[in-house]
Amino acid sequence: MKKLCVLGWLALSMAWPVMTAAAPAALDDRTAFIDGLLQRMTLQEKIGQLRLISIGEDMPVPRLAGELAAGNIGGTFNSVTRHDNRPLQEAALRSRLQIPIFFAYDVIHGHRTIFPIGLGLASSWDMETVATAGRVSAIEASADGLDMTFAPMVDITRDPRWGRTSEGFGEDPFLVSEIARTMIRAYQGQSLREPDSLMASVKHFALYGAVEGGRDYNVVDMSPQRMHQDYLPPYRAAVEAGAGGVMVALNTVNGVPASANRWLLQDLLREDWGFSGVTISDHGAITELLRHGVAVDGREAAKLAITAGLDMSMADSLYAEHLPELVESGEVPLESIDQSVRQVLGAKYDLGLFHDPFLRIGTASGDPADVNAENRLHRDAAREVARQSLVLLENRNHTLPLRKAGTIALVGPLADSHIDMLGSWSAAGVAAQTVTLRQAMQEALGDHGRLLYARGANVTDDPAMVEYLNFLNWDNPEVVQDPRLAEEMIAEAVAAAEQADIIVAAVGESRGMSHESSSRTSLQIPASQQALLRALKATGKPLVLVLMNGRPLALGWVQANADAVLETWFSGTEGGHAIADVLFGDHNPSGKLPISFPRSVGQIPTYYNHLRLGRPFVEGKPGNYTSQYFEEPNGPLYPFGYGLSYTTFSLSPPRLSTEVLSRGDVLEVEVTLKNTGKRDGATVVQLYLHDVAASQVRPVKELKGFRKVWLKAGEERRVRFNIDEEQLKFFDAQLRHLAEAGRFEVQVGLDSRQVQAQRFELR
Ligand code: NOJ
Repeated sequence: MKKLCVLGWLALSMAWPVMTAAAPAALDDRTAFIDGLLQRMTLQEKIGQLRLISIGEDMPVPRLAGELAAGNIGGTFNSVTRHDNRPLQEAALRSRLQIPIFFAYDVIHGHRTIFPIGLGLASSWDMETVATAGRVSAIEASADGLDMTFAPMVDITRDPRWGRTSEGFGEDPFLVSEIARTMIRAYQGQSLREPDSLMASVKHFALYGAVEGGRDYNVVDMSPQRMHQDYLPPYRAAVEAGAGGVMVALNTVNGVPASANRWLLQDLLREDWGFSGVTISDHGAITELLRHGVAVDGREAAKLAITAGLDMSMADSLYAEHLPELVESGEVPLESIDQSVRQVLGAKYDLGLFHDPFLRIGTASGDPADVNAENRLHRDAAREVARQSLVLLENRNHTLPLRKAGTIALVGPLADSHIDMLGSWSAAGVAAQTVTLRQAMQEALGDHGRLLYARGANVTDDPAMVEYLNFLNWDNPEVVQDPRLAEEMIAEAVAAAEQADIIVAAVGESRGMSHESSSRTSLQIPASQQALLRALKATGKPLVLVLMNGRPLALGWVQANADAVLETWFSGTEGGHAIADVLFGDHNPSGKLPISFPRSVGQIPTYYNHLRLGRPFVEGKPGNYTSQYFEEPNGPLYPFGYGLSYTTFSLSPPRLSTEVLSRGDVLEVEVTLKNTGKRDGATVVQLYLHDVAASQVRPVKELKGFRKVWLKAGEERRVRFNIDEEQLKFFDAQLRHLAEAGRFEVQVGLDSRQVQAQRFELR
């Protein structure tokens, strides 16, 4: 983990301040307290509050204490222990007004204990599971002296070429909005004043997931209808759930960079949505306004950003360099600065830092022993969350679950890679403390069976990828590239397979292949591993694939050749255990895809909730002059909402309480779900709505409700959903959010493709 022990020396020279400059009585009144403080601040002190610096990167350590003590810094990120943060806070409290700083970090899917990546959490379709991941993250991060996380990342993603697909929760506005709300509540707890609460800074506002071609940092250009209907709802959900912060995206939004986008940051965010927290730039984004070409120099960039409503600059020196002069010359009104400073001070106030600057840092004598990811309760939670995140894609002839007997050949470069279990953005996770699949299968088998292991291939031999992986994994002692010849590694794996009853191959991507700045033009499993898979297939032994990856992959060959396929994403500290639990049948998988899996890159996008067409392709009819490709069928290989179980379920057609819904009334949809198999298990009942005719072209279906239901073998249960006018609304040509009278279709299914429908009318 990134421990910056070098900072420890600061502690020695610091006095221990006991209270801030403000009188305690004033603390009761947030507005009065902040305004009082503001009145006493110099312009330099105010601008200092707008600076969020990256520890270790933005400033040489010897300068840090001086800058903090001069009140020139509002917050920091990238220092990750109480021990490291304590001297920084002490330095800040030596400033004239003794204003505390806050400590932020990218706590994205766990802190010390790492949970599955965003796509994995979303695959659970279970808000309790999501909340567990968020709450444990907050408990661990706040115990490290952190106050804020740059999360949740709620960018809707319809293009899996984008490496950051891994961080988000998939392609659907409804599901992602539910998760956004859940995550905000989980991080922020009952009150931000609690020592185990973290302020959430939702990101990346806005539309970052829609970068053209899935190439990171690329342009975003989109119609207002699509924006409001599909991409903005999750950010709004986070704001409405009380997110204290909003991180502003690096991309342009219809020609104006988000960081200089007044419409986005003021009209939409503050006026329409009522956001009253702090906006924070992404890393170096204000300087990037020069490269975007909307500012001729740093001075203009700073002016554009602050007047657009960007409160804090992250790892960017332009505010500090230019705002003093811009205010003095009158080009930037002092009120703009004051407004932003109010938000920063407000965040600190809400976090309880004015009441106790050491609320989360504590005292040195009270520092707990550092166990990293060895908290038993948290690890148990991580194992359960990871189990919920696994999606069974194929299971021919009941290949799974495996028997705990005989000989199993476990092969593949991801079968025993500790660091890849973590996935990208694994905060302070410790690779060595993860459980790999090899370890977990060995543990589960014990003396009952034999586990043979061979690496079989490197994850990739692509030089550009290898270089990036080495760069990201700089402090990982594990071997990224096995220097042996590919033929030698494959031969070793085949030899193991030939001795075994069944092959389990752990293949996919390395964590760094699905990360920031990790876009791909291919969704294939890399060539090195494909060669391995073909050789394994040629042995004729049953082949189980355990996929580890941070984006949908093109799985045509896999679907045709593997006997069973389990999608495991990057499943975190306890991932190996969770996967073994499913492989051996100790847990029945219930995950569902939160994003569609295209057949090939050429098919992108394949999101399920697309608009209707004038010339749709109709299955079974000639394709001429209809919307289709020559080479491949329409539609994804695996649709949104799809996932198998070791048991089977039947779902009745939906029954509606009425055929006519009046505005203000509620229509009830009821279905009967039955576990028709021999094992207990869970599935997700999904409710989609479709507006049959409207003034705007409407999607073929849109998720509007879901319920994860656990049933014993043979058990059945009625599942009910309510529909009212609100769920029927859309943004019309004038961007009015309304429901038009007319016919609607209710579709219910266990995935987005196979649904049963009923119609009703809104009057
Ligand atoms: C850049 C990333 O885009 C953002 O998501 C992250 O929070 C910041 N760097 C800070 O690490």
